[in-house]
Amino acid sequence: MTIFNWINFPPLGDSRGSLVALEGNKTIPFDIQRVYYIFDTESGVARGFHAHKQLQQVAVCVTGKCRMILDDGNAREEAWLDSPTKGVFIKDMVWREMYDFSDDCVLLVLASEHYDKVDYIRDYQEFLKESKK
Ligand code: TYD
Repeated sequence: MTIFNWINFPPLGDSRGSLVALEGNKTIPFDIQRVYYIFDTESGVARGFHAHKQLQQVAVCVTGKCRMILDDGNAREEAWLDSPTKGVFIKDMVWREMYDFSDDCVLLVLASEHYDKVDYIRDYQEFLKESKK
């Protein structure tokens, strides 16, 4: 079982430039309930360090790049998000850490649920215990 999947967004650009359209239940494999973006990240900052009990997300660097570590409790994989035409699809119960944000990085995240702080697992040991169930 893979920890995450890449989604290649269909390019709709033409001679004028590039365009990507993301649609819920089409390009994005769920109903989009929330969109947020992380930008102006200070140098050396790492973010994330949590998993979600029931949340699907697609993350894409629309500008710049960052590195994501994804962990399902059995293995860890690394993904460089460095293209506005490909996103990482993250299922529930995946621990994520983000590093090495470029100065210009804008990390856009599409989420299947509204923000719910109760859905977060922020303790790695608790995550490992829950992921074994
Ligand atoms: P946080 O989860 O710490 O960000 P990261 O995963 O990058 O470490 O979120 C930072 C703050 O923003 C925290 O107070 C919760 C709030 N927040 C929302 O209110 N809504 C959201 O959709 C998200 C992602 C965060």
